[in-house]
Amino acid sequence: MQEASVQAIIDTDPGLDDAIAILYALRSPAFEVLGLTTVAGNIGLAATTRNAGRLLALARRTDIPVVAGASRPLKRPALDVASHIHGVDGVGGVPLPQAAAPALDGAVDWMAEQLANAPDKTVDLLALGPLTNVATLVERHPSQAVRIRRLIAMGGAVETHGNVSARSEFNFAADPEAVETVLGADLPLAIVPLDVTRQVRATHDYATQLATAARPEARKAGELIKAYFKGTDGRESRPLHDPCVMLLAAVPQLFKVERRHLDVCLTGGDSGALVSGTHAVDVAMGVDEGLALAQLSNVLVGSRNQPDRDQGR
Ligand code: BDR
Ligand code: CA
Repeated sequence: MQEASVQAIIDTDPGLDDAIAILYALRSPAFEVLGLTTVAGNIGLAATTRNAGRLLALARRTDIPVVAGASRPLKRPALDVASHIHGVDGVGGVPLPQAAAPALDGAVDWMAEQLANAPDKTVDLLALGPLTNVATLVERHPSQAVRIRRLIAMGGAVETHGNVSARSEFNFAADPEAVETVLGADLPLAIVPLDVTRQVRATHDYATQLATAARPEARKAGELIKAYFKGTDGRESRPLHDPCVMLLAAVPQLFKVERRHLDVCLTGGDSGALVSGTHAVDVAMGVDEGLALAQLSNVLVGSRNQPDRDQGR
């Protein structure tokens, strides 16, 4: 399917599904990735930053910087519930090449600089982890934050059950105060919650198809999905949460988006849960799963229907 042009900063905590999302964006001719900013989430900041650099090395995109951000949530200790899914290295033990260059520090100031230097409302911020960096940007650099074209964030559970507690999803549960700040910032915000990401599921066959492709990024994406099955006791499929953010950015016609009014719960066992409230947010609630999976694999594998990223480079 035709992708719309996206100029983006990817804020991320790789993370197996983050890694697949990043590889997709790096291969897609529609994306101009300005940088990967990292945040603690699935694993600590040192590991998410190292993984970001290694993914760029795999994709031979050493022109793109990695900039390290927050090492902990705004006001509470880090959640430690994700390493059993993503492995102690954050990428399920899947080998990746060494990063070509050391990461920079100061993700939030770097984001503000990018936004200040780009024409107004041309840069998307694609948030794949806890919203700590994004909330800090809003607080520290409000006049740059409003220059964002779209903020698309994976997080929350609207009508479905959570994956951390009955109602809360990992990214939002990891830093609920950051979610509150971002909801209150009146940015052009779209949320991609579990309601929709659980509908985009990779099977073992899907992973094998990628893992046996010619391109290194596709093969690695297949390995990463296979690693995502480890420890799941024979599940038939795994949800591709973070890649849905990339798909909503580039191929919005795949999704059904609804305007909701939401707040975030800050206390108790369901902190981070989305509740009915006052902030108007676009929420992806439906998706064409078949087309979404085909789009991801076509770009990663490099089908004849997709222009090749390497052409002219
Ligand atoms: C989200 O939490 C993380 O474990 C994933 O990378 C994704 O961003 C899903 O709840
Ligand atoms: Ca993530």
